[in-house]
Amino acid sequence: MNAAIDWDRLRDAAREIMRRAYVPYSRYPVGVAGLVDDGRVVAGCNVENASYGLGLCAECGMVSELAATGGGRLVAVWCVDGKGATLMPCGRCRQLLWEHGGPGCLLQTPEGILPMEQVLPQAFGAEHLEP
Ligand code: THU
Repeated sequence: MNAAIDWDRLRDAAREIMRRAYVPYSRYPVGVAGLVDDGRVVAGCNVENASYGLGLCAECGMVSELAATGGGRLVAVWCVDGKGATLMPCGRCRQLLWEHGGPGCLLQTPEGILPMEQVLPQAFGAEHLEP
């Protein structure tokens, strides 16, 4: 499966949408793109707010597009900063990726490609809610 992932396409999509980030407060644009198990590519950028705490991370936009365009599972994700360099998703967003990708979803990190189970060990997930 790893060999089938077009990582260049994901990086390019993340860099492209990063340019649409709405970041008047932090001036820190972020873009992210994810490959879905049916071959779709979904993407998002961060969208901030004058009420600072309401800012949306790029990953929020990406998972919103994922749901809005038919759902499915994320199999590979690449997040970039304003320079287009690989960015490690924040803790909250790792939880978002866990929900929609699970332990095997691959993530580009500054230390190379890692599965979600390595970047969010002992993750809380849907199975914990089961009686
Ligand atoms: N940000 C993201 O969009 N995703 C991350 O994983 C890390 C942080 C955004 C939030 C805020 O708009 C800006 O980066 C600076 O924290």
